Amino acid sequence: MVDKEQAPDEKLKRERAGTYRTADGRFTVEQTSSGWLVMDAEQTDELGLALARGPFTTIDAARAAIAAARTGPAPTSAVREAPQRKATPTPASAAKTTTATPRRPPRAAPPRPAREVVIREMRTVDGDALRALWRDAGFGSLGDDDRSLARLARRNPGLVLVAADGSRVVGSALGAWDGRRGWIYHVVTAPSHRRRGIATKLIDQIETALVSLGCPKANVMIRPDSDEGAEFWTARGYAVSTSRQFGKELETR
Ligand SMILES: CC(C)(COP(=O)(O)OP(=O)(O)OC[C@H]1O[C@@H](n2cnc3c(N)ncnc32)[C@H](O)[C@@H]1OP(=O)(O)O)[C@@H](O)C(=O)NCCC(=O)NCCS
Repeated sequence: MVDKEQAPDEKLKRERAGTYRTADGRFTVEQTSSGWLVMDAEQTDELGLALARGPFTTIDAARAAIAAARTGPAPTSAVREAPQRKATPTPASAAKTTTATPRRPPRAAPPRPAREVVIREMRTVDGDALRALWRDAGFGSLGDDDRSLARLARRNPGLVLVAADGSRVVGSALGAWDGRRGWIYHVVTAPSHRRRGIATKLIDQIETALVSLGCPKANVMIRPDSDEGAEFWTARGYAVSTSRQFGKELETR
């Protein structure tokens, strides 16, 4: 199905509510809480993940940014998800987006249909939402900063996942494969979305990817006081290990 709002120059195909893709598959346009983001599969940002342009106030502005990206110079810096006035658009997109999107009075939001929670790979722009999700669940550890998360995602394609309900990140599971074992970190579902199978979907996808890599065993560490975590992993067939975990923080530069 094609979006009604599309301009004749760049056709966007609707994938699902709030997500569109160009015919050649290079650009994905996604509605987020801050506006429309354009993900470019052919360019990476400073952290090595798919480059995000925007956020833009309208889908037409996002489309104009795609046209600019196809013809303009390659952007060099990542664009973080932030309110529109704080965004740092590329020179090419700035000319198009700021002039092509005159301020309009806000329109009343249309009634929202029930949305499907989507499992997708983590992106650079997810960092703040993920850290908020983890903070609320009492998680937080070394490696939660954007650079470390991007490194994890680069080294583990298809394993570092989030669950998104529209523009909101409602779940996470960070998988990794070290060549001997699979590891799964930060499995969290937002309290509003629990017991709907979201963590199950995340882990199913990670386990499938690990199996395809030839990984014979997946490990997970959970806090001793996490009863729900223990219930969840037991329900998935994970057994308590008898080995004790030792750890040491290393000096990195
Ligand atoms: C554990 C957690 C990730 C589960 O997420 P979820 O999306 O609600 O899990 P699912 O809906 O996929 O649950 C699958 C199964 O796990 C078990 N389970 C999940 N949460 C449970 C709970 N609170 N109590 C008992 N069993 C539970 C059930 O068997 C459930 O199947 P059912 O709903 O058909 O009974 C979530 O409760 C959470 O984020 N907790 C806080 C963080 C945490 O402890 N993470 C785990 C350690 S890494």
